[in-house]
Amino acid sequence: MDKFVVRGGNPLLGTIKVSGAKNSALPCMAAAILTEDEVILENIPQVQDIETERKLLASMGAEVELGYGRAQHRTRIKCGVLSDPVAKYEIVKTMRASSLVLGPLIARTGIARVAMPGGCAIGGRPIDLHIKGLEAMGATITQEHGYLEARTDRLKGAHIVFDKITVTGTEDLLMAACLADGETLFENCAREPEVTDLAAMLTAMGARIEGAGTGTIRVQGVTRLHGARHKINPDRIEAGTFLIAGAITGGDLNVDCLNPQHLGSVLSKLERCGVKLDIGKDHIRVRSEGSQSGHLKPVDITTEEYPGFPTDMQAQFMALLTQCDGTSSVTENIFENRFMHVSELNRMGANIAVNGRTATVRGGAPLQSAAVMCSDLRASAALVLAALVADGESILDRVYHMDRGYERLEEKLRGVGAQIRRMGEVFGKR
Ligand code: UD1
Repeated sequence: MDKFVVRGGNPLLGTIKVSGAKNSALPCMAAAILTEDEVILENIPQVQDIETERKLLASMGAEVELGYGRAQHRTRIKCGVLSDPVAKYEIVKTMRASSLVLGPLIARTGIARVAMPGGCAIGGRPIDLHIKGLEAMGATITQEHGYLEARTDRLKGAHIVFDKITVTGTEDLLMAACLADGETLFENCAREPEVTDLAAMLTAMGARIEGAGTGTIRVQGVTRLHGARHKINPDRIEAGTFLIAGAITGGDLNVDCLNPQHLGSVLSKLERCGVKLDIGKDHIRVRSEGSQSGHLKPVDITTEEYPGFPTDMQAQFMALLTQCDGTSSVTENIFENRFMHVSELNRMGANIAVNGRTATVRGGAPLQSAAVMCSDLRASAALVLAALVADGESILDRVYHMDRGYERLEEKLRGVGAQIRRMGEVFGKR
């Protein structure tokens, strides 16, 4: 199992580039199921979850070609014949977002078999709202041997009010509604940029969608969607992680190829911490005096659905708060059990106490290097950030969590001066 070795203390300097958003790419790849034509996606990040989705689509009979580097991270998908419309447990268990194929599969083929996602490190994460929505659209859903089976002659338009805001739930049902008979009206939808990105791709495929990015989305179903070419949005969570990397190390970092409009709540919290930001059209320069000088001020964070503060930035921001001079609070409203990074940060010398959904961070103490364990994707990123300022050499175990969602993280950070390598590599070798 790969490990990262990180030696802390270097301020990050220079320019670092943000990749395409994994959480946009996953639904956009699933949307290719909706047409027998070829779909081309650009700016697809080279991360493990994308490879998992490739395997998932290929296992159903799709042709998927992933190309990186000079191929501009371009992916070609053709779901000509879907001979086996099944999302198998072996794949779903490694990536919950596999349930995103449920809606497009049933809409395209009239039948879908998808393994029930199991529990997950950051809470139960049910898919009951996906199921309820498809049933409202006329699908019959049964559950057997750990699989959901959905069947219908053709989905029908419906009025669906989400009991709770769900990102992949909104995306899954939005895809299904595109090929349904008649109008579907969704209320209490997720407003995340990833939903808007998916809607842009679906529209390019011939779907008729109004209101994506707001709480109310209206879809007029069509009988057929065609191929399209679409460029994936920049990854706002990777961008936010790099901004914190610049801030926590007392660096001067230009984070390039991002969309500042998707980062509003994170940027305002960083500014409240005393971090200097020069915001351009597609880049942000971040400067800070760093942790030791008492320049970083505490702030309170509450995670909320977009445009609120993202739960996917909570762990990384907590790493920064350990270096702010005073007491901050972090309240996690989206997922239960999303404080697994706390015990590891405390092992590095942080002072964080959890009480229910709220963590109290008493910041200001220098962090020390330690051997720590990554528990999930964003928790891993928080540990990298902490290790970048810790005194000495930290070893991060189970970095496969990080590889699910960050493209070549160690290479990108090394390019701006961090001392980080995978176990087995030698420092200085690029
Ligand atoms: C997506 C993101 C994930 C992010 C999360 C919240 C992807 C691939 N993943 O996950 O990175 O952390 O949004 O921004 O885009 N819920 C139900 N029933 C359902 C569905 C969800 O109760 O059927 C609950 C969940 O348990 C959670 C809340 O709704 O408490 C939000 O979850 P949701 O927005 O669905 O998260 P994901 O789409 O899985």
